[in-house]
Amino acid sequence: MPFPADRPRRLRRTEALRSLVRETDVLPRHLIAPLFVKEGIREPEPIGSMPGQLQHTIESLTKEARELASRGVRSFLLFGIPSTKDAAGTQAYASGGISQQGLRALRDEFGSDAVLIGDLCLCEYTDHGHCGVLRDGDVRNDETLDLYAQTAIVQADAGADIVAPSGMMDGQVAMIRDALDDAGRTDTAIMAYAAKFASAHYGPFREAAECAPQEGDRSGYQMDPANIREALRETTLDLEEGADIVMVKPALPYLDVISAVADMSAVPVAAYNVSGEYSMVQAAAECGWIDGEAVAREHVTAIRRAGADLVVTYFAKQLCS
Ligand code: PBG
Ligand code: ZN
Repeated sequence: MPFPADRPRRLRRTEALRSLVRETDVLPRHLIAPLFVKEGIREPEPIGSMPGQLQHTIESLTKEARELASRGVRSFLLFGIPSTKDAAGTQAYASGGISQQGLRALRDEFGSDAVLIGDLCLCEYTDHGHCGVLRDGDVRNDETLDLYAQTAIVQADAGADIVAPSGMMDGQVAMIRDALDDAGRTDTAIMAYAAKFASAHYGPFREAAECAPQEGDRSGYQMDPANIREALRETTLDLEEGADIVMVKPALPYLDVISAVADMSAVPVAAYNVSGEYSMVQAAAECGWIDGEAVAREHVTAIRRAGADLVVTYFAKQLCS
């Protein structure tokens, strides 16, 4: 029976009623906080392109993670920035590399009370800034896989519960699963950046992680933003290769992809609300043009509503007070 009998506003009258019928929650347990740890600094350094985020020392990393945990956010995605880089990204798979140091520190601090996720890529560690081995201007897929395999093992040894390969090399999930299993790390999970697009929204992150490619771009390995069918293909492959969680990245401009991946996936779906999405909100909020926290909450709610079980977001702290 339509109006006047049917009046949807009845259930919007009070906050108590609205809360009773709300379909989507954003709770601390849904959020993963990305954290940057930098080698060779004595004090945490602000990241100019990402107001409110820091490059941490080991000590400030632990402190920030504690602060997040006190707000209920206890899953962390760790990015390392080494003090030396080379063509092969050696520090990514050095057992004493900065990412491994960070993982160890967090594991010591939290025991089993936190979920530690290692971002697994080479671009922070290579002098050319690409996500894999560069030869004659080309990022070599299969050579890169060997280095990813080594990186997965040292991250697992350092205490990672989950490794998160973000380089978009073909076969990376299968290769890493094999390597972990051979090393006896059958319990280490893989969160696959399954549908990672070659997005302009990573700009601020490249300053944060000091990983901008010196020449060229990443469109030879990351996906074309125009393609959803290909995103589903990538997801299918990662599921077949043994991904425990699949991720879509970025999040907001790709809600349709998140929704389609959620429909097909038998494993949890994560979405990465990336640096550009964060910094646009922070910048507009600093100008006084929007209420940044309200916009951030709306964004993350939309990402959850689209079908993401988990959201990687720099807003984790702001959203959980
Ligand atoms: C590198 C990596 C990037 C991000 C996560 N891992 C940047 C890139 O691919 O260029 C982006 C994260 C963000 O923008 O917040 N493999
Ligand atoms: Zn990379």
